[in-house]
Amino acid sequence: MKIKYTAPLRGELSIPGDKSISHRSVMFGALAEGTTEVTNFLTGADCLSTISCFRQMGIKIEFVPHERGAHVLIHGKGLHGLTVPSATLDAGNSGTTVRLLSGILAGQAFDTVITGDASIQKRPMKRIMMPLTAMGADISSVNGNGCAPLSIHGKILQGIHYNSPVASAQVKSCILLAGLYANGVTSVTEPAVSRNHSELMLRYFGADVRTDADEYSHTSIVNGRKTTLHTGFTASISPEPTLVGQKVRVPGDISSAAYFIAAALLVPGSELLLRNVGINPTRDGMLRVCQEMGADITLLNEDYSGAEPCADLLVRSSHLKAVEISGDIIPTLIDELPVLAVLAAFAEGTTVIRDAAELRVKESDRIAVMTENLSRIGCPVEATEDGMIITGGKALQGASIDSYKDHRIAMSFAVAALACSGEMDILDAECVNISYPGFYEDLASVCR
Ligand code: S3P
Repeated sequence: MKIKYTAPLRGELSIPGDKSISHRSVMFGALAEGTTEVTNFLTGADCLSTISCFRQMGIKIEFVPHERGAHVLIHGKGLHGLTVPSATLDAGNSGTTVRLLSGILAGQAFDTVITGDASIQKRPMKRIMMPLTAMGADISSVNGNGCAPLSIHGKILQGIHYNSPVASAQVKSCILLAGLYANGVTSVTEPAVSRNHSELMLRYFGADVRTDADEYSHTSIVNGRKTTLHTGFTASISPEPTLVGQKVRVPGDISSAAYFIAAALLVPGSELLLRNVGINPTRDGMLRVCQEMGADITLLNEDYSGAEPCADLLVRSSHLKAVEISGDIIPTLIDELPVLAVLAAFAEGTTVIRDAAELRVKESDRIAVMTENLSRIGCPVEATEDGMIITGGKALQGASIDSYKDHRIAMSFAVAALACSGEMDILDAECVNISYPGFYEDLASVCR
């Protein structure tokens, strides 16, 4: 894919549905009694992998493409309604599918093997195997390397309290889902708050999910108004709830909106309205960092009526300055760090990203890959163990970029292309279909 600057970003765009919420709507819908009706479901390959795994376990799922997303009906069979799949479950490129599903599979009355593509087979699974084993699960790495394929022999589980060494919603959600099948309460404490979509949606479906009283708060981007997020560092769940199918409207994915926010900020003369973006405070770190960098972003039509808040974002091109990105904000923008690194490459001064070692175990080693590719376009950048040091403000030049088949790397350099001279050539550019089918078409449609 070759991309170069054509025109400022103008007009408006509806962002496709949130990947994390789309996955969960299928999983929890399958475990609920009755039908779950999902609108604006993300049709990215990762979420389709989740659908196919549940179909293999006897769940009827109707999928109707609708506008930019899909309308999905999941005919749930209750907590104990899954049936043994006839073959290995294939999670494709999706870490969320492997890790969350493993928590569910650990408590079934049958055995399964779950795996995925070459990238998934390199990603660490000990982080879920350890706590699941502590709950009494029988789970092993088939190749003995702590990665998928995972072989899971279903068992009756015991509730535990787990002190997670890592702030990861995939680990937290895996344990809470296993907790549905445990004797007694299961709880997880994290070192920092990770996305809380599982807690919100499981509660909405009828589970008894609690979070501790430590409220985590930050100042929202809208007129300095304070938003308090009612979640804590500990989440707990009681076993054997009756989950009831619900209607879920998936908000636009802020992680996908991030590329358009960044592009509109970087390209002079841009003014772009992004409709219906999820602004859950456990996901909005990108907005907070952009604001600190001097970005002109206004939230309009905020809607707090559903479980997941959303708003329209009006973004205008801005002169950006360097910042430090570290500490508790990292889990709230973990998937946006590649595109934030691109913003840093064009911002005035030196941006330091720390406490983000998790980037090394995503779909690619995002610290190594961003450093390699930013260097190729002429940006002074240094990789550290847990982040990057990026000196912005130099004129940068389009180059040939290897996405390493990582969707977030491809989209980040499509954004960078618009602010570089010359042309960017992105290898394996079609990997954007993992989380954003139609990304390049959407980008072209607003550059006018
Ligand atoms: C996700 C959690 C995050 C994120 C991933 C989706 C989820 O991963 O990077 O894209 O849906 O729970 P970790 O939990 O590994 O940080």
